[in-house]
Amino acid sequence: MSEVNTVLEGRTILLGVTGSIAAFKAADITSRLTEAGAKVCPVMTAGACSFIQPLTLQTLSRQPVVSDIWSEGQGWQPGHIELADRADLLLVAPATAHCIAQFANGLAPDLLTSIHLATTAPVMIAPAMNGKMLAHPATQANIATLRDRGYHFIEPDRGMLACGYEGEGKLASVDRIVETVVHFFRE
Ligand SMILES: Cc1cc2nc3c(=O)[nH]c(=O)nc-3n(C[C@H](O)[C@H](O)[C@H](O)COP(=O)(O)O)c2cc1C
Repeated sequence: MSEVNTVLEGRTILLGVTGSIAAFKAADITSRLTEAGAKVCPVMTAGACSFIQPLTLQTLSRQPVVSDIWSEGQGWQPGHIELADRADLLLVAPATAHCIAQFANGLAPDLLTSIHLATTAPVMIAPAMNGKMLAHPATQANIATLRDRGYHFIEPDRGMLACGYEGEGKLASVDRIVETVVHFFRE
């Protein structure tokens, strides 16, 4: 068994997916982490569901995908609390400026942001957005707040962005995201 498999075996990773054009890359992230032995539980925002179908992540993760806080599981305990309790890591990839702002301000209007407040698991964020959105003082302040709180960031790449501009804000490569998760659990 490779070291990657050993490290991720039995780990529960909540994969938050938000409404970025890079949301399609969550399919590859799900696939790679699942193949490496992690139990990947995808949590999609409504925005993410406009970019990719939950069915894609459900099939690749072999786990139910949750997205609607008003249609949770059948048990007595709200599904988001149960998921939050089980998590070894909350990884958000891609993370929009909106999601980062909600995390920084403790807002919980949907399932992902509610899980974020309810979990004591470490949080890892891979931002993806237009370079001007990333450079905006509000976004930078939100990122600084989360860093101060001990959140882990996977820095975006520079390159040609989907919005047509060149700059910083491109979601880190899937390789780098998977390597960062493996490294995190190896520590
Ligand atoms: C085509 C398109 C692409 C978008 N890409 C991004 C993106 O990469 N990053 C981002 O922060 N917002 C992006 N947005 C804006 C978000 O979808 C919007 O802020 C939304 O409210 C995010 O909601 P969520 O964070 O709950 O998923 C995009 C919107 C559209 C229509």
